[in-house]
Amino acid sequence: MASDKDYSSMNRPLSPRLSIYRWHAPMLASLAHRASGITLVLFIPVYLWLLHAMTGTPEDFAAARAWLHLPPGRIVLWLVGASLIYHFFNGIRFLCLDAGWGESREAMRLTARVAIGVGVAAAIVLGVALW
Ligand code: HEM
Repeated sequence: MASDKDYSSMNRPLSPRLSIYRWHAPMLASLAHRASGITLVLFIPVYLWLLHAMTGTPEDFAAARAWLHLPPGRIVLWLVGASLIYHFFNGIRFLCLDAGWGESREAMRLTARVAIGVGVAAAIVLGVALW
């Protein structure tokens, strides 16, 4: 393990600099987790509107149903569906990490790749199903 002295001799910046970060799977998985969490939160008002409309008058029901079949409705369903599936799987991964499982660098990279793969596969399957 490198000591503080070793790091200082490498002449590296001590504070984070985006320009020197190299992209790797755990970093992407973490960013995507935040993005999917925000997407899910933003969907709450739309979900409440849909719930209200679906349980309201027949006209409200028809309007909500029609919206879900239009491109904006389909795109929202696709985005939220893929976000939920990804967030769920990566959320389980994060909970395992919190419990101390899979903390080695290799395991972190492998599980991040699996979670991203599941998210991408979910996005493709949902995209095909909704279009
Ligand atoms: C489906 C089951 C879910 C699981 C297993 C799960 C798991 C998690 C975990 C473990 C975290 C903490 C991540 C960290 O340590 O940085 C988290 C963050 C978060 N979750 Fe979930 N979650 C789930 C569903 C949801 C839902 C339904 C929403 C929104 C309605 C949501 C919104 C968020 C947000 C906004 C964050 C904070 C993201 C951040 O600051 O990076 N999650 N989730």
